[in-house]
Amino acid sequence: MSSTPAPTIANSKCILVTGATSGIGRALSLKFKELPSQPQIIVTGWRQDQLNELASQGFEAVRIDFQKEKEQLKKNLHALVERYPDLDTVVLNAGIQHQFDFRSLRASVLIVRYCSRFCVHHLKYNPEVTEEMNLNYTSAVVAVVALMPHFQKLADQGRHCFIVGISSGLSMVPTAWVPNYAASKAAVHSFLLALRAQLADGSIHVIEVMPRLLSLSFTIRMVLRMLFPKRGCRWRSSPSSRLEAMLKGDDEIPVGMSAGVFKKFEEGKKQMAIQLMKNHEAGKSY
Ligand SMILES: NC(=O)c1ccc[n+]([C@@H]2O[C@H](COP(=O)([O-])OP(=O)(O)OC[C@H]3O[C@@H](n4cnc5c(N)ncnc54)[C@H](OP(=O)(O)O)[C@@H]3O)[C@@H](O)[C@H]2O)c1
Repeated sequence: MSSTPAPTIANSKCILVTGATSGIGRALSLKFKELPSQPQIIVTGWRQDQLNELASQGFEAVRIDFQKEKEQLKKNLHALVERYPDLDTVVLNAGIQHQFDFRSLRASVLIVRYCSRFCVHHLKYNPEVTEEMNLNYTSAVVAVVALMPHFQKLADQGRHCFIVGISSGLSMVPTAWVPNYAASKAAVHSFLLALRAQLADGSIHVIEVMPRLLSLSFTIRMVLRMLFPKRGCRWRSSPSSRLEAMLKGDDEIPVGMSAGVFKKFEEGKKQMAIQLMKNHEAGKSY
């Protein structure tokens, strides 16, 4: 007996990729161009030179700062939907990473205490912590809130929509030198599990990609980017395995060494989250 194949992004008509001006987002956007449905691809980032270069390759390039004030971000996304009414897939990829060591925090505070009030303030209320959580987690939630009515409208018309979140292997086991980054990715992971459980059995599908740490660490690249902002730091990563898994209809895609971690700590969680939601709706105890 042949079963109906799971809907996949192979049939997407219009895909929005955030953080597409480098790395994974850029590599995925280039791959999406090869999809059989020949989707329109909207790439966002914040470096205009990189966006211009992508526009010259036939992408719809739009500059949106995902760190911006949340109401503004929602307005930008609503405007995008009006301009691209076929938008049926979003890849929430934009992200940053900072190292943060609590052991050095105390020493640094003592050293700078008598030097500059600003530095003490900076260290105490470390702005990177908020920036990291804002971009990696909060902006993704805001984007889902902003795009959901549009996706629901398409779903009512019988269309399939896809929300693709890029978390990390660190969402499952943190690496201690980037504690806040790992926490922001754990939040993304938990949010996607819950979102999928809410939307189960419908036409809006939630996919999570958990990339492994690429050869040149994300942290080193963040430092290089700060040093050479004009040049940009574009290191290639192979998006093939991620794309193949998405085309197969997988909705949890741990990549490389993340696969082992996923098997050990995460298998079965998705089904449990869905079951908990069903029980809740049926008024049953957990
Ligand atoms: N690379 C890894 O080892 C690894 C491992 C696990 C998970 N991940 C995750 O995969 C995603 C992509 O990582 P990557 O390695 O490809 O990083 P990347 O090369 O540094 O790319 C990050 C993207 O986010 C964009 N971005 C940064 N700040 C932004 C802002 N305020 N508003 C809008 N866009 C902004 C950047 O734009 P500009 O280029 O214009 O600055 C860039 O396009 C991230 O979510 C990351 O956490 C990466």
